[in-house]
Amino acid sequence: MQFVFLGPPGSGKGTQSALIIEKYKIPHVSTGDIFRKAIAEQSPLGLEAQKYIAKGELVPDDITIELLLRRINQDDCKNGFLLDGFPRTIPQAEALDLHGKRINRPIQLVLNMVIEETLLLNRVDGRRVCKECNTSFNLKSKPPINPGICDRCECELYQRSDDNPESIKTRLHQHRTKTSPLLEYYRKNGTLVANIDSLRDIPTVFKEIDSYLEKIK
Ligand code: AP5
Ligand code: MG
Repeated sequence: MQFVFLGPPGSGKGTQSALIIEKYKIPHVSTGDIFRKAIAEQSPLGLEAQKYIAKGELVPDDITIELLLRRINQDDCKNGFLLDGFPRTIPQAEALDLHGKRINRPIQLVLNMVIEETLLLNRVDGRRVCKECNTSFNLKSKPPINPGICDRCECELYQRSDDNPESIKTRLHQHRTKTSPLLEYYRKNGTLVANIDSLRDIPTVFKEIDSYLEKIK
C-alpha cells in the first residue's frame, strides 16, 4: 500500500494515520514529525527547518524531497507506507512520482481531508501532543483522562510551537496556494482521489477511509 494524505492543518491527517498504522502495520511517514524530531535534537536539519516551521512556511523543496526519499528507501518501507504531509507542492509530487516509476510502485490513492477552514483554528488551538509517544489529544474533542498527561504512556503533553493563530494563518495560506493544486495534478495523472468529509467524528471518518484502503490493499 502506498498512499498520501492531503488536507489543511488540523484536518485530522495525523489522527487518522495513527488508526491506520494500528490496523495495517505500515510505517507512518510524516515529514512534520521528522522535522520536529530534528528540531528537538537540534541537528543541522532541525536548525534549518525551524526557521520555516516556526513561521508556518514550507521547508524548501530540495531539503524536504531529499529527506523524504531517504526515509522511504529504508527497509521498513519496502512493503508500503503512508505519507502524511508529503507531497505539499508540485515539485514534491513530481519527485515522488519519479521515484514510484523507478521502483515500479506508483501512489495508489490520495486521501483528501475536506473541512471548512474556519473550523480548523479551534481544532489546532485545542491540540496537545505527547512528548514521548506523539499521541495527539484535543482539549475539546478528545481530552486526555488526566489533564496534561498522555493516556497511553503517562508522559507530559505539550502544545506545538506552530499552533498559534499567526502561524496557522500562514499554514492555511500555504495549503491553499501550494498544496491544493495537487488535487488537479493527481486527477490529471489518473490517481484515485478520495474526498473525505473530516467534520464527522473520528471513528466515522476512519470507517470511510478504511473502505478505500480495503480497495488498494
Ligand atoms: P505538519 O506536522 O504536517 O502539520 P500540518 O500539515 O499543518 O497538519 P497538522 O499536523 O497541524 O494537522 P493534522 O491534519 O495532522 O491534524 P491532527 O490529526 O493532529 O507540518 C508542520 C510543518 O512542517 C509545516 O507547516 C511545514 O513548515 C513543515 N513541513 C511538513 N511537511 C512538509 C513538506 N512536505 N514540505 C515542506 N514543509 C513541510 O488533528 C488536529 C486536532 O484536531 C487534534 O487535536 C485532534 O485530536 C483533533 N481532531 C482530529 N480529527 C478530529 C475529528 N474528526 N473531530 C474532532 N477533532 C478532531
Ligand atoms: Mg499532523
